[in-house]
Amino acid sequence: MTVERVHVSLGARSYDVLIGQGLLAQAGALMAPLLARSRVAVLTEARVAALHLEALTAGLTNGGVAMQAHALAPGESTKGWDGLREAVEWLLDAQVERRDMVVALGGGVIGDLGGFAASVLRRGVRFVQVPTSLLAQVDSSVGGKTGINTRHGKNLVGAFHQPSLVLADIDLLDTLPARDFLAGYGEVVKYGLLGDAAFFAWLEQNGPALARGDKDLRQYAVRRSVEMKAGIVARDETEQGERALLNLGHTFCHALEAATGYSDRLLHGEGVSIGCALAFEVSARMGLCAQETPSRVRAHLRAMGMATDLRDISGDLPQAEALIRLMAQDKKVQDGRLRFILARDIGSSFVCDDVPGEILRVVLQQALAGRE
Ligand code: GLY
Repeated sequence: MTVERVHVSLGARSYDVLIGQGLLAQAGALMAPLLARSRVAVLTEARVAALHLEALTAGLTNGGVAMQAHALAPGESTKGWDGLREAVEWLLDAQVERRDMVVALGGGVIGDLGGFAASVLRRGVRFVQVPTSLLAQVDSSVGGKTGINTRHGKNLVGAFHQPSLVLADIDLLDTLPARDFLAGYGEVVKYGLLGDAAFFAWLEQNGPALARGDKDLRQYAVRRSVEMKAGIVARDETEQGERALLNLGHTFCHALEAATGYSDRLLHGEGVSIGCALAFEVSARMGLCAQETPSRVRAHLRAMGMATDLRDISGDLPQAEALIRLMAQDKKVQDGRLRFILARDIGSSFVCDDVPGEILRVVLQQALAGRE
């Protein structure tokens, strides 16, 4: 399949997302036109570096681009103040100048951290995202949300800083553990659920083959997801309105992530998948969507072997009231009101600030009871 290009249209901050196979090998040629001088500084993490840094180095060098690289420790804990300090100090050691380019090679942690480091370095240098996970390819590398976690919560410190280019190389998904691939697929399904019923139907049809490794299907799923995200970001870059729809499933997800201590009991994409199922459940109980719609959503998630219900999370979970209190700490809370993305149908979502507490409690109680 050929390389596809999705344009993120943001005036002077517009950029392309390239999606295809073998993009690492062409990295130098693809980045060179953007560079003020033929060198880049690559931020990555140790696990990804072992798998892909050699190929990126060759791709850059063959295209006449010199590079230096620094690998941080893998894992979510890198995305904090210490990781930021390490990244920024290294970029300064590497003498990255105001007109230079930083490259973030990795999943969501490195993309968010590397992008934020670039945004504060010398008051802002440009950067290229080379996402290596499915979640990063379809979500976090596109749209310019960068940042770190603090003891107060996830992503509470950050900046909108758009990349200059995104290279989504489908071949890199081959090395993902199955659990990580499926967690990323949670974000893919989210796009169908929030705004494209035909895409959801396509996923019902093609999801299993895509998960088994079909590259053409993977490329289509990444491209369609990125197209949807690019459209939403172009219309609402800083989340004043429509961009909030990308948070479908996330209010539940963030509470569950907090309840499980941000540990590998629950990966972010797994929380999104369970959160989407719960959001449809709440929508049906409020009479917003047909009673059978939540079952259709859950049937697809189940067929894919994804986390779907609270019983898919190992260990103890807090009671419904405590989960609701965790939701109230979410950064999407506005004027003390919980904010949910609900749906009138598959592919038709909207922001809702007044979910009755009683419905929320009943849905969570029933979901928790299903674990017993
Ligand atoms: N991941 C949600 C957003 O980029 O807005």
